[in-house]
Amino acid sequence: MNSKKSPARFSSDEVNRPLLRQRAFNLRWAEVDSDVIPLTAADPDFPVAPQIIEAVTSYVSDGLLGYGPTRGLVEFREGVSSMLEERGVPSHPDQVLATDGAASALWAACRAVLSPGDEAITFDPVDFLLPHCSEQAGAEVLRCPLEPGTGALPDGVLEQRIGPRTRAILICNPHNPTGRVLRREELQRIASLAVKHDLVIISDEVWSDIILGDVPMVSIGSLGDEVARRTITVSGFSKTYGLAGFRIGFVHCGSNTLAEQVLEASGAPRTTFGASVVSQVAAQAAMRECQQWRVGFLHHLRKMSQIGASRLDALDGFRCPEPEGTYLLFPDIRATGMSATELAGQLETKARVAVVPGEERWFGAGAMGHIRLSFATSEEILDEALTRIERWSETR
Ligand SMILES: Cc1ncc(COP(=O)(O)O)c(C=O)c1O
Repeated sequence: MNSKKSPARFSSDEVNRPLLRQRAFNLRWAEVDSDVIPLTAADPDFPVAPQIIEAVTSYVSDGLLGYGPTRGLVEFREGVSSMLEERGVPSHPDQVLATDGAASALWAACRAVLSPGDEAITFDPVDFLLPHCSEQAGAEVLRCPLEPGTGALPDGVLEQRIGPRTRAILICNPHNPTGRVLRREELQRIASLAVKHDLVIISDEVWSDIILGDVPMVSIGSLGDEVARRTITVSGFSKTYGLAGFRIGFVHCGSNTLAEQVLEASGAPRTTFGASVVSQVAAQAAMRECQQWRVGFLHHLRKMSQIGASRLDALDGFRCPEPEGTYLLFPDIRATGMSATELAGQLETKARVAVVPGEERWFGAGAMGHIRLSFATSEEILDEALTRIERWSETR
């Protein structure tokens, strides 16, 4: 009998720091000094669910690893389609395209609907990928400032930005970096403007499973047929299931016409781009077999969110609300008298904790005066990072 006890889920015993130092890139463990705790890019410190490892191992051990179907494996697309249907988004597997990540899904969606001379509207602040992909497609980006403090969509500001060249509105729900879950009423306002002005809605819902509070996740594509038809939903499996390294995501289009345009723009028909089959197998296992694991992860994240927000909020000059979704804290640090860049620099050099400064290049001008911290780690590591920040704050 094997007497080895498996480590408690989402505990520090599950976090393999030496391996993370070798493998976790993108501003994380492998890219910071060896005594720095990186609460930077949103990528969990935990290993993936065992069901994913089993599914991938079994598929690979069969030894056949040729090309997959252009749009993605049928089972993968069926899985995505039923997931969206459960959220009230009318969906058909043929309107789903497997992509190598949500970022790539956004890129394909933007290339499909935006051209030079077009305008795209998005929020300020928002994750850089939304404006970046719009600009890569040649469009000019107009930003809609969110309400400082709450991150809500103020009345009237979206309308003011819509003009004859506007082609698309890009939203991020739940919102990175504010952690806010868009209200049904806000989504309805966005949707009616899109219908009125014949715009495409590109909705980045990569965070849609990470709902921490009472505000329900509403997919904008669920707000009636007229809205669904013009909605492109993009998402992926990096945030919920820790599959960032597999680069796996999807695009769903509410009409066949949009689906064909996105497919063409994605490069998949000519095999220049596309999602790896093994990654789709991993995502299938995530959707089909890892719901219990996901509930456990959410339970852990809710606790980390409370701990992180309350301890940061107690610091001199910090104001840190709890996020409604995502595993990101986004404290307002203006009362410290420091810029985000300066404060993040001090945290890294003096407290030995790396965070993302709210710089324009990451999130837009609306993020200035804020820093962003990811709490998808164990309680012990989060506690260590917070203790270091508290000590720095007391002595600065
Ligand atoms: C809003 C948003 N969209 C897309 C991505 C990228 O996801 P993926 O790893 O699936 O490309 C991220 C990652 O942080 C994100 O926050």
